[in-house]
Amino acid sequence: MNLPEALPPEAATSAEAALEELRRQIAVLIEAVAARDTFIAVAAHELRNPMTPIIGQIDLLLANLQAGRYSSAQLEHRVRRIRGAMDHFIKRAGTLLDVSRITSGRFQLVLAPCDLSDLLRETVENFADTARFSGCSVEIEVPENLYGTWDRLALEQILDNLISNAIKYAPSRPVTVSAEALGSLVRFSVRDCGPGISTGDRARIFERFERAVGTSERHSGFGVGLWVVGQIVAAMEGTIVVDDAEGGGSVFTVTLPRYLEAKLP
Ligand SMILES: Nc1ncnc2c1ncn2[C@@H]1O[C@H](COP(=O)(O)OP(=O)(O)O)[C@@H](O)[C@H]1O
Ligand SMILES: [Mg+2]
Repeated sequence: MNLPEALPPEAATSAEAALEELRRQIAVLIEAVAARDTFIAVAAHELRNPMTPIIGQIDLLLANLQAGRYSSAQLEHRVRRIRGAMDHFIKRAGTLLDVSRITSGRFQLVLAPCDLSDLLRETVENFADTARFSGCSVEIEVPENLYGTWDRLALEQILDNLISNAIKYAPSRPVTVSAEALGSLVRFSVRDCGPGISTGDRARIFERFERAVGTSERHSGFGVGLWVVGQIVAAMEGTIVVDDAEGGGSVFTVTLPRYLEAKLP
């Protein structure tokens, strides 16, 4: 914008500076609104999409029930699968809640004694159907027990994100989940044999709404999973890094204090 020539030079300079600041703030706001719009669009897609297979499974169940084709064992198996799909759906919706809790500073850890090895085995078990569907086998290498004090749901959230990413971005290949104790720390990792992540993308994928892949049906996602993971890991005073896995693929490694309450005020 051209300023009136009559303005004294110092006033003109400060008016220009104010205008520049205003332009900068508008650019930030435009970006924030665009990010929010994308988020809403992807969220709507993500929440509607998993409903299609659930409805499909219910229809199949009804048709087979009406035809009297199910034994009680088959019926139980079907209902359990639908139950599993619903749990998965609720978790995806939970990610949205986490995003809003973290953004507004209302995310709080609930610490309790917990066995990480147990939790890892359970989580891998919960992924059995999804992994089979993608042609992945999920191996687990953990000690018998790995006790510590953590937020169980937060740990589940971390693992769900890392394992579902491995299955999503490295289909038809093996995934390995491992864990070990390191003195006062614990370390666990999720390794896949997929395309890997370029060095240039490694920091960016932990940012909100950042994705290293193009948007496609199979790779649909919020682009917030790793951001949520990074925030939760930081809240637990830990670190997360991504490296090349030996022989190709990515390995995400999380290191956490074992007994967090000892460090809290
Ligand atoms: N195991 C993986 N292998 C390859 N790329 C990955 C892997 N995990 C994450 N990424 C990349 O990091 C991006 C961010 O991941 P994430 O935050 O979970 O979002 P989303 O999965 O919704 O895209 C992904 O879009 C993908 O490009
Ligand atoms: Mg993801």
